[in-house]
Amino acid sequence: MKINHQLFPLVLFLYSCRDIPIFLGAHLNSMAKRSKHDPANPLLPLHGNLEDLKKAAKNCQACDLWKLGTQTVFGEGAPNAKIMFVGEQPGDQEDLEGRPFVGPAGKLLDRALEDAGIDRKKVYVTNAVKHFKWEPRGKRRIHKKPNAVEIAACRPWLDAEIAALRPKIIVLLGATAAQSLLGRDFRVTQHRGEFLQSELASHVMATVHPSSILRAPDEQARHDAMKQFITDLKKIARVL
Ligand code: URA
Ligand code: SF4
Repeated sequence: MKINHQLFPLVLFLYSCRDIPIFLGAHLNSMAKRSKHDPANPLLPLHGNLEDLKKAAKNCQACDLWKLGTQTVFGEGAPNAKIMFVGEQPGDQEDLEGRPFVGPAGKLLDRALEDAGIDRKKVYVTNAVKHFKWEPRGKRRIHKKPNAVEIAACRPWLDAEIAALRPKIIVLLGATAAQSLLGRDFRVTQHRGEFLQSELASHVMATVHPSSILRAPDEQARHDAMKQFITDLKKIARVL
């Protein structure tokens, strides 16, 4: 058979184009998904870094909680952090300061991290829901649990933080964070401290929320809960 060598470049070109429709289709598909399912979509930068995301989240109104909280409390920490901690929502002090984990639960987390040998400056902390939900009791603002609609509305921000940081380890603190990322059927009580199979990161673990340790009924219970929490964090320190 006679081969026409002049056709080689054309064949090569056509060969190199073979994946373009698939690539384009997948890309458009993912954009369609995003615009359909992301309530926070109009503000969410498609490929934002953490700073871009934080700025965009300031104006989020994707659920009603923006009316209740003082400001959006976005995640913060080392931009190259290997560990991301996900809490529930900002508390009273976080709401006023605009920074996550600066109140009593944050102080307890700081102490536990130190005891586990994890450098607090090298981690990233954020929350499943980024506005403070509360109800008045006298002069105080009492924390109220976010519901499934609010958790789902805020999830795109958390997804975007994970995509921007790409942490090696994600630690879910308490049921709300676990519900947001692992689904409503996940039980922290049954699986705390285990490394879970997940596409979110190479190591994913759920454990208790530091506030639950603060709420322990007596000194002994608090001591035991703290010890168990530090045991979980030490497992994380080992895979760092
Ligand atoms: N509790 C949380 O879940 N997150 C905070 O930022 C503070 C307290
Ligand atoms: Fe937006 Fe989340 Fe605040 Fe709701 S809680 S308004 S989704 S940032």
